[in-house]
Amino acid sequence: MDTITKAKKAAGEKAASLVQPGMLVGLGTGSTAYWAIEKIGQMVKEGLNIRAVATSVASEQQAIALGIPITSFSEIQQLDIDIDGADEISEDLQIIKGGGGALLREKIVAHASRRKVIVADERKYVKTLGKFPLPVEIIPFGWELVFKSIQALQGAPTLRTREDKPYITDNGNYILDCMFGAIEHPEQLHHQLKAMTGVVETGLFINLKPTVIIAYENGEVKTL
Ligand code: A5P
Repeated sequence: MDTITKAKKAAGEKAASLVQPGMLVGLGTGSTAYWAIEKIGQMVKEGLNIRAVATSVASEQQAIALGIPITSFSEIQQLDIDIDGADEISEDLQIIKGGGGALLREKIVAHASRRKVIVADERKYVKTLGKFPLPVEIIPFGWELVFKSIQALQGAPTLRTREDKPYITDNGNYILDCMFGAIEHPEQLHHQLKAMTGVVETGLFINLKPTVIIAYENGEVKTL
């Protein structure tokens, strides 16, 4: 296992250790949250009694394969803890998510959770957001119009593709990956984007007040 994968595993496992018996747990998406889900699966096999809501089809399948009981918002109103990855975390703990395409469900689950735990390796921790292109989930109909509106906002959008076709999210939508340069005012940008008809959600996770667990390649794990 390379040092970055080891760091992701360490961050994910540290977060899993925060899960207590009886909790309702949000399961994130991506290669770091993956390790938290693996660990929670192991804890469930050892007798931990929890129920979980997953933020993507992929994470739900992983959880089911591990025997983690799955619930949904038709049965529960709130989660105790949500463990998820990030693409960038700024020093003031604002976050870009959605590199894996799951931003909409991730945001719904994060907002429904009392405690938000973000797990990442050290490469994700930055001074200012914006090196990572901001994912924006949009409705397929008329997507070209949103594309132009984001260009007018100096956003340099690219339609995400997979095998030369538009990438389709778990919710049937498209994603525009948008380069804005350094994002000095993430809250303002989030609101500008959300105000565009056709935009479903942005990858800016603002003012979540998360617990952030950063794992370093040298083996250190820090909680911010
Ligand atoms: C999924 O849509 C994303 O928000 C992920 O949480 C994010 O991309 C982090 O993924 P990795 O842990 O794989 O980098």
